Amino acid sequence: MKINPEIFSHIKEEHLLNEQQLIEQIYEEFGMGILLKMAQKASEVKNNAYAPYSNYQVGASVLTIDEQIFTGVNAEAVSYTQTTHAEESAIRNAISTGVIRELGQHFIAAILYASPDSEFGAPCGHCRQIISDHAENCVVAQGTADGDLKHVTTLSLIFPFSFSVLTFEYNYGVNIGLEPMT
Ligand code: THU
Ligand code: ZN
Repeated sequence: MKINPEIFSHIKEEHLLNEQQLIEQIYEEFGMGILLKMAQKASEVKNNAYAPYSNYQVGASVLTIDEQIFTGVNAEAVSYTQTTHAEESAIRNAISTGVIRELGQHFIAAILYASPDSEFGAPCGHCRQIISDHAENCVVAQGTADGDLKHVTTLSLIFPFSFSVLTFEYNYGVNIGLEPMT
């Protein structure tokens, strides 16, 4: 049975901007060099990752809607399941400085993942869910190990029909954390 798109009618058109539109919007708003700057920052922190078990060091950058960049790295645990991912860490680092209070829940304009070896990589499902808590849609980019840009896409393309705060807003009229706190 196919998904009936009507059950996702709470997803507004602006949340589903096509990939090219959103990428152009980011460049217009933050400048053509912004994703490269994020790639360089993620590459700089990548070697701080603690990944003795997988030997797969990841760096990540988050661009906020008011143009701040936060970084993060993966940090593993011997029991494995307590591992923190780089994107998750960058998002939590941003939150810990007060971005939710300033900007509201949806503070991410773009997120970039720097793979350890420049081969193709992408935020995992766990990270996509966390990103979707903080962006209705955003640019999702990949950087190389040495700070170049490898690939650019969007959250709505790689994580469509997700379970999000918009589901609550639509179904139950609850509007949790969407506005900046005063
Ligand atoms: N990893 C991330 O940091 N982000 C992802 O989204 C994919 C996976 C980390 C977790 C683990 O430390 C290592 O990469 C190998 O899976
Ligand atoms: Zn992840």
